[in-house]
Amino acid sequence: MEIIIAPDYEEMSKISARIIALEIRRKHDLVLGLATGDTPVGTYQQLVKIHQEEGLDFSKIKSFNLDEYVGLAPLHKNSYNFFMRENLFEQVNINMANVFVPQGNTDDPEEYCKWYEEQINNYGGIDLQVLGIGRDGHIAFNEPGSSFASRTRVKALFKQTIEDNSRFFNSIEEVPRFAITMGIGTILEARKVLLIANGKNKADVVASFIEGPVTSQITATALQLHTHVTVVLDEDAASNLVRKDYYNWVRDNKHLVQKMVGR
Ligand code: F6R
Repeated sequence: MEIIIAPDYEEMSKISARIIALEIRRKHDLVLGLATGDTPVGTYQQLVKIHQEEGLDFSKIKSFNLDEYVGLAPLHKNSYNFFMRENLFEQVNINMANVFVPQGNTDDPEEYCKWYEEQINNYGGIDLQVLGIGRDGHIAFNEPGSSFASRTRVKALFKQTIEDNSRFFNSIEEVPRFAITMGIGTILEARKVLLIANGKNKADVVASFIEGPVTSQITATALQLHTHVTVVLDEDAASNLVRKDYYNWVRDNKHLVQKMVGR
């Protein structure tokens, strides 16, 4: 795992956007896994800037979002589909025919989840998966106890997740109790993973997921089993890491490290 600690949210977003842009430039038809929430908003703004100022081309890329609330139609203002349109898709030259966000108001969620997995496979699998992390350690909506082998499915949300996400709704009662989410197994199959986290309220969970034991009670720890994970943090989110000096030394001596070792 590569840990990059940025001084603040803006730098964290710039670094993350550069990592994504590099992958898009390396492979024009990249299959990109995308996350929603507060964390990646700055990263998407930076990607839009790189598109406008440097012509970063999204026309051939395919995208798969991690999750969607069950019951919300794609045009609902609290849906993740709506979020993605506002924060990224409408501001870059992505082909909407190549965009996949789970459909929250599907009639048959079970069949739909199977179909979603098939689409990921049909497009050759995810090249780069962008992730945030919840305070309970979830990635996508894989709440504590989710199997590391899990695939796209419907998952009941934890109370803490519902409370955290209620800030986007008029009241906590309006927050859906279920989500369609890629599984941990689905995420682990992505060729590369980029996890972003910022803020003091993520410091505990960030330390547990990077430096703690692997456990399905903190599903982000499954990423310790993946061979190509980059974590970009701001100082606040990194504040409880015990081996911070080591990560910073590796970051600052990347040229030496790349010559000598793998990840
Ligand atoms: C969203 C998602 C979630 C969020 C997590 C953190 O698509 O998959 O796992 O990444 O809940 O959300 P924020 O960024 O709002 O703190």
